Amino acid sequence: MKKITLSNGQDIPSLGLGTWKSQPNEVYEAIKTAVKIGYRHIDCAAIYGNESEIGDALSDLIKEGVVAREDLWITSKLWNDAHLPNDVKPALQKTISDLKLDYLDLYLIHWPVAQKPGHKMPGTADDFLSLDEAPIAATWKAMEEVHQSGLARSIGVSNFGMQNLSDLLETCTVKPVMNQVECHPYLNQEKLASFCHDKGIYLTAYSPLGSKDRHESIKGINEPMMMEDDTVKAIAQDKNVTPAQILLAWSMYRNNAVIPKSVNPGRLQQNFDSQNVELSSVDMDKLYSINKDRRYIDGSFWVKENGPYSLEDVWR
Ligand code: A2P
Repeated sequence: MKKITLSNGQDIPSLGLGTWKSQPNEVYEAIKTAVKIGYRHIDCAAIYGNESEIGDALSDLIKEGVVAREDLWITSKLWNDAHLPNDVKPALQKTISDLKLDYLDLYLIHWPVAQKPGHKMPGTADDFLSLDEAPIAATWKAMEEVHQSGLARSIGVSNFGMQNLSDLLETCTVKPVMNQVECHPYLNQEKLASFCHDKGIYLTAYSPLGSKDRHESIKGINEPMMMEDDTVKAIAQDKNVTPAQILLAWSMYRNNAVIPKSVNPGRLQQNFDSQNVELSSVDMDKLYSINKDRRYIDGSFWVKENGPYSLEDVWR
C-alpha cells in the first residue's frame, strides 16, 4: 500500500475511502467491505452525518480482529459552526465518541468559513460569523491544543487557498501537515500544489471522480464528466483499466492522498486496485492538458446576500 510521510513523520496511506454522501444506512457495510479489501485510511467529517455508523463498523472490525486501531488512519473535520475556540475540543470529542475511537489520526478545519454555533448550513447572512468574530488563527490555536493533548495526532486544514494558508503559517506554532482540497485532472491545482509542496504541506484530493452523486441543488448545468473525457477514456482503454482508475492513479502519481467515495463492493475493489495502475510521463502530460480549472464544489453555498463571505474570500 502506497503511503506518504507527512512533515511530522507520520505515514498516511495514499488511498483513502471518502464518506461524504455515503448514507447512514449504507456506510456500515461500505466500511466493513473496504477494510476487508485492504483500505486503511477513512476520511470522515461531522457534517456528513454518518460518523456514528462508521464508528459501529470500525468498532466491529476491531472486535472481530480484522484490523487493529493502530493500523488505521482516520481523518475527520471540524465543522464551520464550531470555530469559536471553546467549541473546538467538544466538537472533536463528539466526533471521536461517534467514531468509537480514543483519538484521530488527522483533524482538519473543514472550511475557512465560520457559522454561529448550531447553524449547520447557512440560510441567511445572519447565520455566519465573520472572520473578525471567529478568526482562523484563534481556531487554529484550539486545534493546536487538541493536538498537544493527543486527541488529534496530526492537524491540518481543508479548502484553504494560498493566502489563507500564508496567513495561518504566519501565526501558527504547529504547522498544518495537510490541506484537503478538490483536485483532479479538470482542477489540477498546480499553483496551490507547488505552494504547499514548498511549505511541506501535502494535499488530499477530494471529489477525485467528480462527485456525480451530489445533490442536484449543488450541481451545475451540463457539468463536464471526467469519466467520459476522451483523453481519460483513451488512456484507460490502452491500459485495460477503467477511467476512474486513471483519475485515481493520476492523484497518486502527483504524490497526493486521494479519497474516492463508494458504497459499492465492486467499485471499492476497483478503486483500491488503482494503486497498481502505472502512468507514463506522456500519460501525465496528456492528463495535464485537459485541466479546465473547473470546480465541482464551487463554495457558493457560503455566499449569501449581505453575508460576510464572497467567493474570493472562500478561495483566497
Ligand atoms: P458509488 O458509491 O455507487 O460507487 P467522488 O469520490 O468524486 O465524490 O465520486 C463518488 C461518486 O462516484 C459516487 O457516485 C460513486 O458511486 C461513484 N464511483 C465511485 N467509484 C467509482 C468507479 N470506480 N466507477 C464509477 N463510479 C464510481
